[in-house]
Amino acid sequence: MHLHLLLILALFRAGCVVAGPSYSLSGSWRVSNGNGSLELPATVPGYVHSALHQHGLIQDPYYRFNDLNYRWISLDNWTYSTEFKIPFNLSEWQKVKLIFDGVDTVAEILFNNVTIGKTDNMFTGYSFDVTNVVKDVNSLKLQFRSAVQYAECQSKAHTSYRVPPECPPVEQKGECHVNFIRKGLL
Ligand SMILES: *[C@@H]1O[C@H](CO)[C@@H](O)[C@H](O)[C@H]1NC(C)=O
Ligand SMILES: *[C@@H]1O[C@H](CO)[C@@H](O)[C@H](O)[C@H]1NC(C)=O
Ligand SMILES: *[C@@H]1O[C@H](CO)[C@@H](O)[C@H](O)[C@H]1NC(C)=O
Ligand SMILES: *[C@@H]1O[C@H](CO)[C@@H](O)[C@H](O)[C@H]1NC(C)=O
Repeated sequence: MHLHLLLILALFRAGCVVAGPSYSLSGSWRVSNGNGSLELPATVPGYVHSALHQHGLIQDPYYRFNDLNYRWISLDNWTYSTEFKIPFNLSEWQKVKLIFDGVDTVAEILFNNVTIGKTDNMFTGYSFDVTNVVKDVNSLKLQFRSAVQYAECQSKAHTSYRVPPECPPVEQKGECHVNFIRKGLL
């Protein structure tokens, strides 16, 4: 599973088309796997594979057949989390938006422990109004679901007609049901 996201917290005055100040959430986050057995620092924008590689937990995923050895990574769920302080005086602004340039791919987004939205398409940006949940100090979590499992579930749920091909040719050793998810790499 790969993740790329760039976040900007933008503050807007009500009824005004001019954007206020923004605050980038790129940088140092943490990532953990589904059962919590792994937790490590991770850079945003970035990928789970690169975080694991940087911390010596896996070898170069592009070397020889390492993509097959590391298939478990794409079958697990991964949560990216961070905490941050707003460097502006919030009470001077009427609207606060959380903007993602890209999220790869299927995630539930929790802002201060409140679900503010979901994503399922890495080819688009996302913007969420967080005015009602934002505080001076905030926690942000993106709970990513295994893209491979998601695509398989979507395929199973689609019973009205077949959408070929179900799987790529075996020689390619790729994942099945790529046509059920808006994702570049699976
Ligand atoms: C990932 O999450 C899905 C649903 O949210 C769950 O069914 C699955 O068991 C989880 N997998 C792991 C490895 O935690
Ligand atoms: C937790 O997840 C890891 C990675 O998927 C797996 O190797 C390990 O067996 C799991 N541990 C438990 C207790 O389920
Ligand atoms: C923040 O802005 C409000 C409203 O303009 C003001 O009353 C308050 O004193 C400001 N707080 C700080 C810490 O500047
Ligand atoms: C976040 O929400 C979950 C479930 O809604 C709850 O169990 C947990 O205690 C909450 N955590 C915090 C820090 O509020």
